[in-house]
Amino acid sequence: MTDPRPVGIFDSGVGGLTVVRQVLDLSPKENIVYFGDTARVPYGTKSKETVTRFSVENVEFLMKHNVKMVVVACNTASSLSLSFLKRCFRVPIIGVIEPGAKAAIRSTRNGKIGVIGTSATISSGAYEKIVKKLRPRASLTSRSCPLFVPLVEEGWIDSKVTEEVAAIYLEPLKKKRIDTLILGCTHYPMLKAVLQKVLGKSVLLIDSSEEVAREMRDVLDAGGLLNTSTGRKDCKFFVSDEPGRFVKMAERFLKKRIECVKKAG
Ligand code: DGL
Repeated sequence: MTDPRPVGIFDSGVGGLTVVRQVLDLSPKENIVYFGDTARVPYGTKSKETVTRFSVENVEFLMKHNVKMVVVACNTASSLSLSFLKRCFRVPIIGVIEPGAKAAIRSTRNGKIGVIGTSATISSGAYEKIVKKLRPRASLTSRSCPLFVPLVEEGWIDSKVTEEVAAIYLEPLKKKRIDTLILGCTHYPMLKAVLQKVLGKSVLLIDSSEEVAREMRDVLDAGGLLNTSTGRKDCKFFVSDEPGRFVKMAERFLKKRIECVKKAG
């Protein structure tokens, strides 16, 4: 049995492309429809009500493309809106929080985990809730890093400024002697090298985009939804504003050329 319907993936903008990259690697037979809400980014400074309204509209858009499942490739939308989305739609919907938290719990040796993300993700307490549930004795230190998203979008991936900002943000986590850090924002895998440099080699970085790509494959497999057919695969990109600006950033995120990005609607 094969299900050629696409997988729908959305983010507030380009960050979710770190997830697309992993999905292309791990599930190369799947067709993909990506939606980046570039007209309304950032989500990380907005309220639960607003992010949930945007997220519902994003899933409605993907559903019009007949998607067989949805990946919420945004930590902010996953933290604030995933449970509501799951109640509203009938296709399987997964987010990035639980796969990242599970990987951190599996990996930590001293039980001291750190998480960084947008202000909305950190103040939602979503990571605390899931870590407490899965490993009540683990300690979680969280820190919002609002300057990271604009630095990544400007392409300041390995600049001195980014390293200095990272050193300030990560100081409290280093003091707590974390041995594992969850990158709780889909932009942050772009900063892996600088974060590793600041934290030192002994701290393990958990890239939620890798974890969610694995979870996506497992959900498709369990539901008999895998696309096993051969032939050319389709990866369609839609944004709510400025396709040209998206393409430039997207090629950096995906490390490959993108042929066509359409404005949705
Ligand atoms: N992609 C978002 C996230 O993972 C960050 C960007 C935003 O604030 O919208 O939280």
